[in-house]
Amino acid sequence: MENNVRPADMRRINTPELAEAFIADQVARVRAQVGDRKVLLALSGGVDSSVVAALLIRAIGRQLVCVHVNHGLMRKGESEQVIEVFQNQMDANLIYVDATDRFLDLLAGVDEPERKRKIIGGEFIKVFDEEARKLEGISFLAQGTIYPDILESDGVKAHHNVGGLPEEMQFELVEPVKLLFKDEVRVVGRALGLPASMVDRQPFPGPGLGVRCLGAITRDRLAALRESDAILREEFSKAGLADKVWQFFTVVPDFRSTGVRDGRRAFDWPVIIRAVNTVDAMTATVPEIPYAVLKTITDRVLAEVPGVCRVLYDLTPKPIGTIEWE
Ligand code: XMP
Repeated sequence: MENNVRPADMRRINTPELAEAFIADQVARVRAQVGDRKVLLALSGGVDSSVVAALLIRAIGRQLVCVHVNHGLMRKGESEQVIEVFQNQMDANLIYVDATDRFLDLLAGVDEPERKRKIIGGEFIKVFDEEARKLEGISFLAQGTIYPDILESDGVKAHHNVGGLPEEMQFELVEPVKLLFKDEVRVVGRALGLPASMVDRQPFPGPGLGVRCLGAITRDRLAALRESDAILREEFSKAGLADKVWQFFTVVPDFRSTGVRDGRRAFDWPVIIRAVNTVDAMTATVPEIPYAVLKTITDRVLAEVPGVCRVLYDLTPKPIGTIEWE
């Protein structure tokens, strides 16, 4: 476990020069560890797995096999960005699996939040496992473990979906950023040429939009959630709020309310805007968003997102409310 302890004299990586030195050192280490063998990585598109992918591509090129599982609960454009950045720009050996139907079929009618999470996590492992079995000659599994994961959960990435792979699928691990804090991972990601939209991404739960499409997930509400979330992100970016607010997203509940559209009665879904500031996600405050920004978002959601007739801003701090709704 000794190499899981950050040396007391290790410098904080906070400049491009320090990031380059770290990258050069890790590239040499990974090459020495891996040789000419193959490494498998579950690439979600989150900051940690993306930085590990870019680092390993630099070190071993197409000996790295990335598997990106689209569980159908990604935000708008995320899977497309993974393909664009890694496959098209970095020439990664990337396997893209669109498992949307599998996940949504399994989740149909399931409204209990913990069961939804278990189904999503369990199915993710199954899909990844199936893909891994099709591959030959894999010797290593790369993981985006970072130092807080080690501090908080004795080395097993708490929210890492592949943590529960079956016994025979346990490979030797390659964890090049495991001694880094999140801000350092971002600096390294930038130095590796990853786009800001990927490196500066806000936290996104493993079960993705699944925990924001409340109750039993349906395709129409999931679409409303994805579109309204995209509008929120676009308008926050335009207003210069994207790097000032820690986490922001929309939520679509599983009840409808009355509205009037084109002179006729509508019975549609509400969209709830959630935005929070926090240091460690244990407590959170709700930022004051300029009224004009909230109004623009509201107008756009009502005009552009089918099936929505109301927009609300959640003013609840944590505690008592949690950040997510379920
Ligand atoms: P809560 O809702 O507990 O959220 O106040 C605190 C932070 O954790 C994120 N979160 C999750 N992340 N899997 C994850 O990987 C999950 O199931 C999950 N649930 C909540 C949430 O987005 C917030 O940043």
